[in-house]
Amino acid sequence: MATPHIRAKEGEIAKCILLPGDPRRAKFIAENFLENPVLFNDVRGILGYTGIYKGRRVSVMGTGMGMPSISIYVNELMSQYGVKVARRIGTCGSQNPEAKLGDVLMAQGCCTTSRINRRMFNGVYAPVADFELLRTAYLKAKERGAGVAVGNVLSSDMFYSLAPDDRFKNWFDFGVIGVEMEGAALYTVARKYGARALMLCTVSDSVSDPKGMTPEQRETSLTNMITLALDTIWEYAE
Ligand code: HPA
Repeated sequence: MATPHIRAKEGEIAKCILLPGDPRRAKFIAENFLENPVLFNDVRGILGYTGIYKGRRVSVMGTGMGMPSISIYVNELMSQYGVKVARRIGTCGSQNPEAKLGDVLMAQGCCTTSRINRRMFNGVYAPVADFELLRTAYLKAKERGAGVAVGNVLSSDMFYSLAPDDRFKNWFDFGVIGVEMEGAALYTVARKYGARALMLCTVSDSVSDPKGMTPEQRETSLTNMITLALDTIWEYAE
């Protein structure tokens, strides 16, 4: 069994998966948070591992950057490998002055500048998170006293733009809380296969602090997000 982009054998991928954009982050999570991690994919350097977290099987795999890349992997994971619960963990930018670096954002819905959904639907599809996953993650974050915001995120097709100062102003004026590049595709594809999906992002660049994150801030906020994601996906794992 193999797909064009994943070379895992049947049964090697768990029903629940964490999806960071960076494949090396998948390796980091597997080696530091999972017991007995086993590599199931390295096609195109997209590393994927399955291991044990608190007694249950969980997988973690990189997705690459952008909606075309994540939709290839999520389509193959859900259509061929039986993945039923997917949790993207990523970083995002924010032009909301109240958003602090390291804050965890939970994407309730994803607006997008991508044309993918405009080609797929003859109207505007609104990709939303799985409500139960969102509710569980929100309550768990609150319990831990973590700074968390829930709302609409913008999944953009561009990281660099010709007009950096006002490129996202409209979106933030209408309540968007962060901008990243994959969420809308994850939510749309998951619905197609009747799977559950949720995206958590830490704010890695914000107008409130143009200096950006220190390495310590990055490490701490990443660890908080990984443990929150693992602890909440764990409830669905086998
Ligand atoms: N734009 C898009 N994706 C991102 C950003 C951004 O500013 N920061 C982190 N991921």
